[in-house]
Amino acid sequence: MSKIAVVYYSKHGTTEEYARKVAEEVGGDLFDAHKVKYKDIKDYDVIVYGGGIYSGGIKGIEFLKKNWNKGLCEKKIMVFAVGITVDHEENCQQCREINFVKRLEGLPCYFLPGAYDPAKNTGVDKQIMGFTLKLIGEGDAKGQTAESNSLIDRMRNGCDLRDMSAIGPLVEAIKAL
Ligand SMILES: Cc1cc2nc3c(=O)[nH]c(=O)nc-3n(C[C@H](O)[C@H](O)[C@H](O)COP(=O)(O)O)c2cc1C
Repeated sequence: MSKIAVVYYSKHGTTEEYARKVAEEVGGDLFDAHKVKYKDIKDYDVIVYGGGIYSGGIKGIEFLKKNWNKGLCEKKIMVFAVGITVDHEENCQQCREINFVKRLEGLPCYFLPGAYDPAKNTGVDKQIMGFTLKLIGEGDAKGQTAESNSLIDRMRNGCDLRDMSAIGPLVEAIKAL
């Protein structure tokens, strides 16, 4: 039986919640990417990496790049990414193009719906969110589509799109390895 490690990077808890559930469903061990070292996961056959999406990037994905040549490249790897725009395939595709380059090219990635609370958004992230809102056309009625309006609403007022049943295909894929 394969030994499965689920490594997650979560800033506000959404990715952690999914990671816990995935680990539970596949009988894997859970590791926080902030604390894990390669030696902790070197004996695992399958590495599931989960990160929140921030400005298109999957948080902590450097973990895979950094440890690739230490032996990670010989393991089976699955990635999941949590965000508030993943209900649109073009956003998922864009995220794949940004994150899965060079050695990570072609890694399977599953997208899960996240949550965002503006009241908990501080510092640089708050500035980034304000800037992004401007960029996607807040206040510019001409440039707006139904999709951008819904996104602006999520970014301005927050949203909770979490759906634990969304892990189904990921769990099946891990079990099928
Ligand atoms: C500054 C900032 C940028 C974000 N950028 C994106 C993004 O590019 N795409 C997306 O789908 N979600 C984006 N989100 C939403 C987060 O991915 C979402 O809140 C997710 O649930 C966070 O996971 P975590 O709680 O595990 O950190 C962003 C959130 C913040 C605060």
